[in-house]
Amino acid sequence: MNVDASSIIKIEKTKQSKINEVDFSNLPFGQITTDHMFVCDFKNGQWEQPQIIPYQNLSLDPSAKIFHYGQSVFEGMKAYKDTNGKIFLFRPLDNQKRINISAKRLAIPELPEEYFMEGLKELLKLDSNWIPTSDGSSLYIRPFVFASGSGLHASPSKEYKFIIACSPSGSYFGGKLKVLIEQKYSRSANGGVGYAKAGGNYGGQFYPTKLANEKGYQQVIWTDDTSHQFIEEAGAMNIFIRIGDTLITAPTSDRILDGITRKSLIKIAENDGITVEVRKITVNELVESAKNGSLKEMFGAGTAAVISPIAGFGFNDIDFELPILENSYALQLKKRITDIQYNRAEDKFGWRIEVK
Ligand code: PLP
Ligand code: COI
Repeated sequence: MNVDASSIIKIEKTKQSKINEVDFSNLPFGQITTDHMFVCDFKNGQWEQPQIIPYQNLSLDPSAKIFHYGQSVFEGMKAYKDTNGKIFLFRPLDNQKRINISAKRLAIPELPEEYFMEGLKELLKLDSNWIPTSDGSSLYIRPFVFASGSGLHASPSKEYKFIIACSPSGSYFGGKLKVLIEQKYSRSANGGVGYAKAGGNYGGQFYPTKLANEKGYQQVIWTDDTSHQFIEEAGAMNIFIRIGDTLITAPTSDRILDGITRKSLIKIAENDGITVEVRKITVNELVESAKNGSLKEMFGAGTAAVISPIAGFGFNDIDFELPILENSYALQLKKRITDIQYNRAEDKFGWRIEVK
């Protein structure tokens, strides 16, 4: 579909901004929302006129299918402001494409590209003062679609809501990140929805993660559902493992989210001359490399978490600590990717999109 969405978005501005209530020098992750939100309803077989309205509560029928059958998908993106006040997005078309890949798997009607991109840009222009500039902060963007239609029949909803909400945010993790290699539970399975950003994928992780938290680990490292031998993902991040000077990450599959940070880091690392292997990696290889000293670093990668170095991991009730490196790939790659995102360096890959 080819429509100029910016000309048909109906905009209602807030009468009372909340921005003065916010302490921008001390931002949590995802707790504070901006003044406006983008909303578009799907009814009678089509997406209706998109709107930007003051951020507000929703009113839904208790039988709305989202509550019962979890038909929902979402995205995670960020807007960055440079020192001149220019606003940037990082590979936003990839998020737009991925929300439709996720939507298809959940039998949710796909969104017109223009609604996603133009809606987002208009919203960012309206709430541009909310994009924080303190070190490490950004405006976290949460586009999501869910089944708003009512009825307890276990079948796809006939009505949906697409919303984009934004949250000025600081870092996702605080302190040292210790992870537990999961040996019992799974987040996804072959033929399942692991590759989609479906809300239920996250709800299903909470209990095993809670058990890991009780043992002193902040995150679970998901392994494959059949053998628990292969390392797949880290909570809401893709995982990278450095053995010797080679950076290894698992290939994406039915069970793994095709992370935008992951694929960008592969390119950046290769461009920096780092050997990257996209291949299966077993828990055994990880443990052996930790024992023989060739395991140099592990880190998670994702939009919310950026690059989160892992300080240690637990397996079979044994704790393995990772060394503290001077020339860490995690820090090198984090600098490279954030320099592109915040317009501090040349963007030779063409990933940065200015919002104007
Ligand atoms: N894996 C999972 C399960 C995630 O939720 C995320 C976060 O979006 C990622 C990986 C990283 O993906 P991206 O880099 O696109 O944010
Ligand atoms: C993101 O990195 O944007 C995510 O979606 C992770 C989220 C579950 C906080």
